[in-house]
Amino acid sequence: MKTILITGGAGFIGSHVVRRFVKKYPDYKIVNLDNLTYAGNLTNLRDIEKEPNYEFVKADITAGELMKALFKKYRFDGVIHLAAESHVDRSISSPMEFIYANIVGTVNLLNAARLIWEDFSGKRFYHISTDEVYGSLGSTGLFTEDTAYDPRSPYSASKASSDHLVRAYNHTYGMPTVISNCSNNYGPFQFPEKLIPLAIHNIKNNKLIPVYGKGENIRDWLYVEDHANAIDLIFHEGKIAETYNIGGQNEWKNIDLIRQLCEIMDKKLKRSAGMSSNLITFVKDRAGHDLRYAIDSTKIQNELGWKPGLQFAEGLEKTVSWYLANEEWMKNVTSGDYQKYYDHQYGKR
Ligand code: NAD
Ligand code: TYD
Repeated sequence: MKTILITGGAGFIGSHVVRRFVKKYPDYKIVNLDNLTYAGNLTNLRDIEKEPNYEFVKADITAGELMKALFKKYRFDGVIHLAAESHVDRSISSPMEFIYANIVGTVNLLNAARLIWEDFSGKRFYHISTDEVYGSLGSTGLFTEDTAYDPRSPYSASKASSDHLVRAYNHTYGMPTVISNCSNNYGPFQFPEKLIPLAIHNIKNNKLIPVYGKGENIRDWLYVEDHANAIDLIFHEGKIAETYNIGGQNEWKNIDLIRQLCEIMDKKLKRSAGMSSNLITFVKDRAGHDLRYAIDSTKIQNELGWKPGLQFAEGLEKTVSWYLANEEWMKNVTSGDYQKYYDHQYGKR
């Protein structure tokens, strides 16, 4: 039986990956390692927590010696590394946390894996990253795997550093690494600091929807299950030392996305047309706000046969339905420090 470590499995994308692996691969033992920051929530995994091939370990990847001890104890055969500080706005107010979790944390895992993997055969260290490492596009063009790195926020700079370190461990020590860089994800269990769940939460509660600048920034959106499917493929079939870009071929200006979301919310909440869009408020722009991200995913499509499964209208509708059906989850994650974060982030805008 192979033992696979998934870090950050209590977070948004990680919980979808853990669930998929636990259910689909009963022959793997899946160890979910997460230190349960504000973004990590074990209720995301309620439905699989009792499965015999699942185990949760609460631990911080910035603790190097602890990582080494855990790798010695569990003898992991593979690592899927998702644990990270993930929100750009938080990285602007508190960059240091991103340096520790995203850079130091990643190197601790690489070192711990190197310690127990004398023989690299059958082993794999898969690092999950973002398209934000490539910087910002103008109105045309797409990021390919060969696009030069040009990170512009503390978040993307920390992810870029970790990508470089993963590649350096492959080049220097022969570590069997693979990396993927994905565009913006959306779907169930996303913390309401990111645009889509934040807007859903605010509309539901008749609160203003803060749109940065003029709402003209463009993101490429991918349903989280499509990302989990790509991660599964890359983990099993991706080539060592390679990078794969993952994207939805689904670019939206923020303001157009929010308008579409408002229409869906009006219908679902049985409100009159236009009620939700009245909540749209343009606020002070994010510092250094990247204009556009867009991905060329030809490589993963051609080499691994992956493609996005869900159309955006369907994915958005599913996402809204999930949040409306899971009010308790939202209540839970917005209790505690959320209001403080919200006031700090939006109070003076
Ligand atoms: P998230 O913020 O929802 O979850 C991150 C998880 O990591 C949480 O469970 C948190 O508790 C855990 N974590 C954070 N610091 C830790 C530490 N020091 N030790 C142990 N656990 C720690 O993030 P997400 O949106 O699910 O993103 C997961 C990964 O995917 C990240 O590496 C992110 O950079 C990458 N990514 C995200 C997106 C996106 O749109 N959300 C897109 C591309 C790539
Ligand atoms: P976000 O979900 O934070 O993802 P990222 O910054 O990693 O792309 O933001 C998506 C887009 O929405 C981005 O252009 C910033 C914008 N945005 C707003 O306009 N208002 C908000 O309150 C938030 C959180 C984001």
